[in-house]
Amino acid sequence: ENYQLWGGCFEEEASSDLRRLNDSLSVDIRLYREDINGSRAWARELNLCKHISAEIYEAIVNGLNKVEADIEKELAENGRILDNDEDIHSVVERRLREYAGDAALHLHTARSRNDQSATDTKLWMLNSTKKLTTAVVQLISVLTTRAENDIEVIMPGYTHLQRAQPLRWSHFLMSYVWQLKEDVVRLEEQVNRLSICPLGSGAIAGCALNIDRLRLAQSLGFKNVTPNSMYAVGSRDYIVEFLNWAALCGLHLSRLAEDLIIYSSQEFGVIQISDKFSTGSSLMPQKRNPDGLELIRGAAGLLLGDSFSFSCTLKGLPSTYNKDLQVDKEIIFRSYDRLMHCVRVMSGTVATLTVSSEKALSLLDPGMLATDLAHYLVRRGVPFRRAHHIVGTVLKRAATLGVSLQDMDYKEYNKLCPNFGSEEEIKRIFSWEASVEQYTSEGGTARVSVEQQILSIREWLQDK
Ligand code: ARG
Repeated sequence: ENYQLWGGCFEEEASSDLRRLNDSLSVDIRLYREDINGSRAWARELNLCKHISAEIYEAIVNGLNKVEADIEKELAENGRILDNDEDIHSVVERRLREYAGDAALHLHTARSRNDQSATDTKLWMLNSTKKLTTAVVQLISVLTTRAENDIEVIMPGYTHLQRAQPLRWSHFLMSYVWQLKEDVVRLEEQVNRLSICPLGSGAIAGCALNIDRLRLAQSLGFKNVTPNSMYAVGSRDYIVEFLNWAALCGLHLSRLAEDLIIYSSQEFGVIQISDKFSTGSSLMPQKRNPDGLELIRGAAGLLLGDSFSFSCTLKGLPSTYNKDLQVDKEIIFRSYDRLMHCVRVMSGTVATLTVSSEKALSLLDPGMLATDLAHYLVRRGVPFRRAHHIVGTVLKRAATLGVSLQDMDYKEYNKLCPNFGSEEEIKRIFSWEASVEQYTSEGGTARVSVEQQILSIREWLQDK
């Protein structure tokens, strides 16, 4: 006899409209390995506690191995499986029956799809967050290598997108490295909370058969077990946490993308995106568009939306499992894929772009050294607030005379403030290199400070 997962007390089939809304196989097929691994572990635990015999256990495991191989093959060949079941749990159990016969009828003993589905998702996440970590670490390494190689390049730094002070381009790159490093640390911190196994929670009340939940959890690679069965089947906090994480990481990528888009525009022209990571226009032959970076910027908005939308789904749900929760997989797969693509495209874009140090230098104007002039006066005993004001009058004077700060006669400087020293000394201020090299404190833009940042990231990367 053919037993479906449910329906013994039903007289009619579900409507096709309901089935379309209810069926999740096209999404949760992605969990087939996790589902089968969970079932192997569950059958093993049932056997260890003598709820199923050794023969039944063996038949189940052998059958599951075959089901896994079949699904793997079908997915490789067709990209999908053709089963008409509602979800991956139903597919595995029905197919198992074909290989294991009536032994298969024992597999779901004391288990529910509620604890099963949450377990599968967590197993998938434990594996996938590792892959994401690797991808972000790779991006960090690409950015750091660039920072190392391009250490000579000096460019304007912007606040409010207005020219602010000269910077090393490497310092700019490293500013993103630090943000992404924190992302990696945050993701690693989630793993401890994620690594808590819901299996053995049943539908809501727990497990009525005696089993060793910790042994079961550890056999699946979890560190611990959920402490309350209602919490286990009803909470999706680990998904909210991951989606929020993905949104933040996406936001960092988006800001980097935006900076690079600006720097690649003809008006800036500091960088050129490689052919590999640019696209053209169907109409304008000269165009080289940073589509990859724009897609990353756009994707960040969708990541934020997905993290928000899933929290909306959770808000107001009564305790424990409700079918609303089924969407968790769709949204987490989507966010994971989206972010993974973005990280990879960003790595490729950064690794292959070219930076023009001449162009970067040409964008610097002597006005950006006004702060240095003020610091110069401070070193000569002028209080900073007064120095700031004096340099303001210097700027005004230069504008009136129609000359740049650098070209203004040093006598004009002395007229505005006798603390300005010799012509020689004032001339020496007008060097981009000398300017950035003043910032030697930790986290500054001087070569030694940037090199220190690179070194400390390299050390951190070593254990990754
Ligand atoms: N496909 C379902 C999900 O992922 C499995 C759980 C179904 N449980 C239930 N009580 N209908 O959410």
